[in-house]
Amino acid sequence: MRALISDIHGNLEALEAVLADIDQQGITEIYCLGDIVGYGPNPRECVDVVAKRCQVTILGNHDQAALFDPEGFNAGAERAIFWTRHMLESDQAEENERRWEFLGELPRMRREEELLFVHGSARNPLNEYVFPEDIYNQRKMERIFALVDRHCFQGHTHIPGVFREDLSFMSPDELDSRYEFTDAKTLVNVGSVGQPRDGDNRASYVLLDGNTLTFKRVPYDFEQTIAKIYPIPELDNFLGDRLRDGR
Ligand SMILES: [Fe+2]
Repeated sequence: MRALISDIHGNLEALEAVLADIDQQGITEIYCLGDIVGYGPNPRECVDVVAKRCQVTILGNHDQAALFDPEGFNAGAERAIFWTRHMLESDQAEENERRWEFLGELPRMRREEELLFVHGSARNPLNEYVFPEDIYNQRKMERIFALVDRHCFQGHTHIPGVFREDLSFMSPDELDSRYEFTDAKTLVNVGSVGQPRDGDNRASYVLLDGNTLTFKRVPYDFEQTIAKIYPIPELDNFLGDRLRDGR
């Protein structure tokens, strides 16, 4: 049994709640699909926890932006990234170096036989969004599915669910939180730990047990995260407010 987490975005309260939920089930194998940092108030702590707890971690676009330069980010996200970079550069030298090295060595993709793990999509692992409404974009979906042997696990949109090759999308609610793999190819979005955007403010992650997927939601104290975001001028208050709404 494996736990798949993604899009933590510097939200330590959400990350700790999810890890506690994972630990409670005795699961020790954890994969992180990127965006450890960006938006949230605890980038250093989240990098440290992920480095310690996850066996596999994939590079996300916000991790990449903190390391290099933000591309295609809106003004608020860019301000947050520059603040995040400052945080990652202004701790003790040894700590800075350790975190920088960890982020700098993250792969953009991992393949394990028929399984693929990316942040965005199989076609553009770092930056491409695959939204539920993309099922109406046949060309896009066909091209992405052509690059997937069987199942691709991804994050990036912060919207959990299952895409099937027949161009359907099913949310965890529609699936009753459970999905049984068939021979058909699927893309699985594991949702976001630290900034859910599907209208549910609980942290999202997925369990993978053989052919069975389980979508999990974990409540956490987002007011504590919000109270850290408000006093940091470089982090827009909106980044806190949206945690309350899960949007
Ligand atoms: Fe993200």
